[in-house]
Amino acid sequence: MTSGTSRLLMLALFLGLNGFGVMVAIQAPELPYGGLAPWILAGSMSLALAAGTWWLRAHMVARMLLTGAILRLAPKHLPRRRDHTFLGYAFLWRREHAERLYYCVARGIEPPEEQQVRFGGNTLLHGLGMLSEKPLFISDARRTHHTLVLGSPGEGKTRFIELVIRQLIEKGDVVVIVDPKGDKRLINTVKQVCEETGRDQAFRIVALPWPMASCAYNPLANFSVPSEITDRIMGIFPPATGESESFRGFQWGATNAVVQILYACGIPLTIERILRYLRKPGQLFLEAMERRAPEMARLDLQSAVKRYQAMVESGALRKSKEFGDLLHYITEYKPDHYHKMVASLIPQLERLAAGVKQDLLSPESDSPRRPLTWEAIDRQKLVVYFYLGSLHGEESANAVGKMLLLDFEAYIASRYSYDPDARNRRISLFVDEAHHLVSRTFLHILAEARGADVAVTLSTQTTAQFEQVFGSRAAVDEIVTQNFLCVQFQSRNPRECKDFSDLAGEREMRVVGESHRYEPAFFSSGFRNVEDFRAQYTQNISYREAPLVPAWAIASLPTFHYFARLGGRIMKARVPLVDEPTCTYAADLQRGAAA
Ligand SMILES: Nc1ncnc2c1ncn2[C@@H]1O[C@H](COP(=O)(O)OP(=O)(O)OP(=O)(O)O)[C@@H](O)[C@H]1O
Ligand SMILES: [Mg+2]
Repeated sequence: MTSGTSRLLMLALFLGLNGFGVMVAIQAPELPYGGLAPWILAGSMSLALAAGTWWLRAHMVARMLLTGAILRLAPKHLPRRRDHTFLGYAFLWRREHAERLYYCVARGIEPPEEQQVRFGGNTLLHGLGMLSEKPLFISDARRTHHTLVLGSPGEGKTRFIELVIRQLIEKGDVVVIVDPKGDKRLINTVKQVCEETGRDQAFRIVALPWPMASCAYNPLANFSVPSEITDRIMGIFPPATGESESFRGFQWGATNAVVQILYACGIPLTIERILRYLRKPGQLFLEAMERRAPEMARLDLQSAVKRYQAMVESGALRKSKEFGDLLHYITEYKPDHYHKMVASLIPQLERLAAGVKQDLLSPESDSPRRPLTWEAIDRQKLVVYFYLGSLHGEESANAVGKMLLLDFEAYIASRYSYDPDARNRRISLFVDEAHHLVSRTFLHILAEARGADVAVTLSTQTTAQFEQVFGSRAAVDEIVTQNFLCVQFQSRNPRECKDFSDLAGEREMRVVGESHRYEPAFFSSGFRNVEDFRAQYTQNISYREAPLVPAWAIASLPTFHYFARLGGRIMKARVPLVDEPTCTYAADLQRGAAA
């Protein structure tokens, strides 16, 4: 029905109902039961008013759907509820919405093409239940059951995260944002909300491209056993295959030998130090021996090794596994061979330890920049933004991101075991472009973090990207099932659309079949009469299983619209675009860096 026809019909209904009431009131003395006239008048007027209001609301919704306007909200107008976080406006997507959707598609009912192009998708999807749309909240306790945000580029993932982060900063939570790409608007929003909520002192930024403003941070600070650090360093490489496997094995062993000795001597582990000694294991041996037996101070490497072996044999020095392992790499391999074997590891570590990155990522206790620690972030309730600057160097950014997530995991494990008060301090971790940063070990965090009151939000374009990292679909399924809330924006990846559709499952849908049959008179009766003219209309209803959210619906979601699986429920929702921050922090930092 066109908007003009519906307007005319509504006007006729409105006037008709009111006219009927008035007529009854005028004619009341002559009508049987005329005493009821005031009631009939009131009833018909209320009915007209209700129908008018309903139509007006439907009309407004239809207009909104036709314009598809992005819902813009000022921060003060965001719905709020105690101990809950607002996720957008949504309605419960039920079987009847899916049935209506199938019905519309079958009859070719959809918004005009130009509107779909303008808003990036089919706004009708939300229109199917928009009248019952309400603010969607998630309880903060449930948030620690984690969130996964999926969608193609430019569909609203970061804006969704921004909406949540803003509320958590307002609530006083510990918030940690890991952003490989550097979303300027997100940086500005975080800074501005910190200022507005009196948490400016709690704001910290670790920004590899902007060293002037950046805090220092050592991604090797937390671990329970030293070999975790070796795994963390080797984890920055893609899984080894074929010939490279033997190189990788050697590199793991050599790195572990260095890490063990440093740990045994009580020397802090930093990327720069590990790199330095990986290049010169002999020097490490000399320095470490000097700590054990100062009389070896002025010996050369060969004499020191001989002296060490003699002292161990005579029982003057306790045999140590750490020294034994390091000696293995010094004495069993010719220096040339050793350097050839570790050659591919060195440049990667150099990238993380060269120039200003040494100050930022390998801080010493006496460095001018006081390093940021997870303990400080947690206990001082900080808001930390890790801007890794993948646009300036993707490999280094991803390597740092991976290490910092594992460092966080190690901190959480110790917090969980040794800090009973930690329950009062929830940590919310947001990882944008997560597929670059998560590793197999990080999967544990999702399971462990729940008990430690840590809420993780991962955002990525497709789960296929996780599959690439983990090398198995089972690991991806683990990530998806570990999340209580799964938010799916438009995806242009068919597999991704199907995955969410499968997640929502199938339902018995009502399928309405229609048929019309006309038998004009002259077929059987010639021109004599039309008595046997027949028209037949049949409608039959059957039920068949069909997806609650068809894959093609996900592929045609407009920008800022999403489907969500929240626990066992499927919601259709849209994210409001909160006002652009006025803060120009990111641009100021960039100017400072350029200057
Ligand atoms: N002020 C604004 N008005 C209208 N649209 C905006 C505004 N700011 C951003 N957008 C739109 O928001 C979308 C970007 O959203 P967002 O950055 O959240 O995407 P994303 O899913 O994180 O993408 P990516 O994977 O590339 O990071 C773009 O389509 C952009 O056109
Ligand atoms: Mg983004």
